[in-house]
Amino acid sequence: MRRIAVLSSGGDAPGMNAAIRAVVRAGIYNGLEVIGVSHGYSGLMAGEVSSMSLGSVADIIHRGGTILYTARSEEFKTPQGQQKAYAVLRQHEVDGLIVIGGDGSFRGAQALSRLGVPTIGIPGTIDNDIPCCDQTIGFDTAVNTAIDAIDKIRDTATSHERTYVVEVMGRHAGDIALHVGLAGGAESVLIPEVPFQMDEVIRKLERSVARGKKHSIIVVAEGAASGLDVGKYLTEHTGFDVRVTVLGHIQRGGAPSFRDRILASQLGEYAVQLLMQGVSGKMVSTHNGMSQAVDFDTVFTTPRQPSLELFRLADILAI
Ligand code: ADP
Ligand code: F6P
Repeated sequence: MRRIAVLSSGGDAPGMNAAIRAVVRAGIYNGLEVIGVSHGYSGLMAGEVSSMSLGSVADIIHRGGTILYTARSEEFKTPQGQQKAYAVLRQHEVDGLIVIGGDGSFRGAQALSRLGVPTIGIPGTIDNDIPCCDQTIGFDTAVNTAIDAIDKIRDTATSHERTYVVEVMGRHAGDIALHVGLAGGAESVLIPEVPFQMDEVIRKLERSVARGKKHSIIVVAEGAASGLDVGKYLTEHTGFDVRVTVLGHIQRGGAPSFRDRILASQLGEYAVQLLMQGVSGKMVSTHNGMSQAVDFDTVFTTPRQPSLELFRLADILAI
């Protein structure tokens, strides 16, 4: 193994830069040449590659986003697109590829691995929706960002005695909402993995008002319902003064938390080690804090859901 490449793909996540830095530094430490691919698979197909020096990843461990840019590409999902990418990797004599992204990105990584390019995936997405993984890079920061926002919203909710509906990201997964709801002291948390009835949400709100509470916060995962719809329903069916906040992309930005920096550093270095050992077609992750490598097929076929234990706890504590 002489030359490896790294790219980021899918939605950006805080900590992707720390992972890129770890790949570049660990690669060079081990005598490898490291190439950066810009704009994910679409840049790979277009041959957007450049050599990464130690200095090229200086001063990025604390920055959100990704210096390699990221993209989503429909063309790369086709066999023709994958052949194009394969040809670019061969042309640049790349002996191994590291892909930082979510499960969609790993499907692309698996396709390249099957074409004969040793490929390792690093889970980078705020959604925390990847199986066989304690946490994905970016999740911790996104949750902290959303909690910070909710703490601020709570001030206004208290002052005006209002009900706030806060919609958070997560695509089809409820992890962000669940952690934000529990840590932010929400009255209700609506996630796609647990069916809910609006009548029950209203009953809980009325119960808390009856015991003297003057404001409420309801956290809604975007995959469970639209925050605007929930707000409209509450306005139409209760006498509460309701406001809706959709947190949106602020959850994707900002300086990565120490946890995300450490996770990214650990997984980036481990991914390089695996390529050097001739491993391919696997995702690196941590399980109980220890690094592990899991076949992409296992990642794709293992069911996952957020902790129902935490969901139960959030419900109990919102009494
Ligand atoms: P994430 O990696 O965060 O899940 P996406 O699902 O948008 O994000 O996937 C990112 C990119 O990975 C897609 O734009 C596409 O180029 C590639 N990709 C997704 N699914 C596949 C697939 N089934 N086969 C090949 N490439 C894929
Ligand atoms: O996968 C990360 C994520 O932020 C999801 O939570 C969200 O559904 C989606 O990406 C938004 O994508 P876009 O950046 O294309 O708006």
